[in-house]
Amino acid sequence: MKKFGFCVGLVLLIISLGFTKKSGSFSLDYNKPVRQILTDLSANVQYQHFVDPSVKGASVERGKEIVTNGFTHNSRGLKTSRISKHFVCTSCHNIVKEVPDLSVIDPQSRLEYTNSIGLPFLQGSPLYGIVNRSSFYNDDYYKKYGELVNAARNDLRQAIQLCSTECSQGRKMKNWELESVLMYLWTLELKLDDLEINGEEEAIIVKALSKETGTEEAIKIIESKYLKSSPAHFIDPPSAKEDRRKVIGNPENGEIIYNNGCMYCHGERKYSFFNLDHSVLTFKNLKHNLDDYHERSIYQVSRYGTKPAAGKKAYMPQYTLEKMSIEQLEDLKAYIVKNAK
Ligand code: HEC
Ligand code: HEC
Repeated sequence: MKKFGFCVGLVLLIISLGFTKKSGSFSLDYNKPVRQILTDLSANVQYQHFVDPSVKGASVERGKEIVTNGFTHNSRGLKTSRISKHFVCTSCHNIVKEVPDLSVIDPQSRLEYTNSIGLPFLQGSPLYGIVNRSSFYNDDYYKKYGELVNAARNDLRQAIQLCSTECSQGRKMKNWELESVLMYLWTLELKLDDLEINGEEEAIIVKALSKETGTEEAIKIIESKYLKSSPAHFIDPPSAKEDRRKVIGNPENGEIIYNNGCMYCHGERKYSFFNLDHSVLTFKNLKHNLDDYHERSIYQVSRYGTKPAAGKKAYMPQYTLEKMSIEQLEDLKAYIVKNAK
């Protein structure tokens, strides 16, 4: 019996060896981090935000708790104060891949993809793969945070601190907390499997890895498959009354935005005192506020966000053009108008 088991094992092993993708004796490991593959190809991969192992008390577990629960425990087992009274990082950022193709910016494919896997549709860029990026608070975020952006633009640690204090309206993190978050974010780095690599490109990468050819082309291919930064452009909503009243959007698409975006924070007052639901009264109110520069107009809040209010500092971040398209906002309006009767 033992012998039989051994034979079956051997046969399975031979079969599986036959099926691994390989060129010569080299196969491509799709679970490998993109950074590792680039290093194997001798690309110059240097990040200022590599983890600093000398910071005492930092751990992946603690970082994960901060990002998903908003607080953690220090090395004496004591609960820390919350980073923010109002939010956790995942209120505004997803922590898994949220677009099908990481080299393309397309709010509609982001909406469809997040909807298909049950993720919310949020204003912040995903934290998944953020360690593979090298510039933060890009483009128009300068208009919102001014000089604060300078320190954060090329420094992930500073970007996290900016988000803790400004976006989350919370406190600055201690060194070990910050390093813990960074350690956790490194567990979310891109894997080769996240990239859209076709057979031809795979062959080029495999050849380069096995030193059959030079590595330049393979590096170029890999680097073209994901963005090194999240572009961010602010946009004004339509200003003319006629345009604000015109209903041209697709209400079915608007429904997804309402449910996965707006309701994620406003359903049962999760992150906001302002409650949204699916009642006719709620839709009537939202419709009523559309025309003017009302502080509760969906045009206003989607494109400008809300200002932090004194005393009660939760505020709503805006959706940039990259996070919600002009058409999508019209779709949201069409859904609201359709249900307001
Ligand atoms: C209330 C919403 C909100 C909360 C809470 C929040 N963020 Fe953000 N964060 C944003 C927005 C909006 C941006 C703007 C840039 C972007 O993400 O595209 C941003 C930007 C960032 C960036 C730079 C991203 C880039 O590519 O430009 C990092 C890093 C970041 N946040 C980390 C965190 C961490 C860590 C936490 C938790 C401690 C957190 N954020 C909490 C909304 C939020
Ligand atoms: C990341 C969480 C989040 C998302 C997503 C979000 N909001 Fe908000 N929104 C807030 C917060 C926080 C406030 C501030 C109000 C408060 O302090 O409770 C706010 C404020 C508002 C206000 C103004 C309320 C007032 O009384 O001034 C409106 C209207 C609004 N949101 C509508 C929307 C709509 C429509 C969507 C979907 C496109 C949306 N929100 C998506 C968090 C969010």
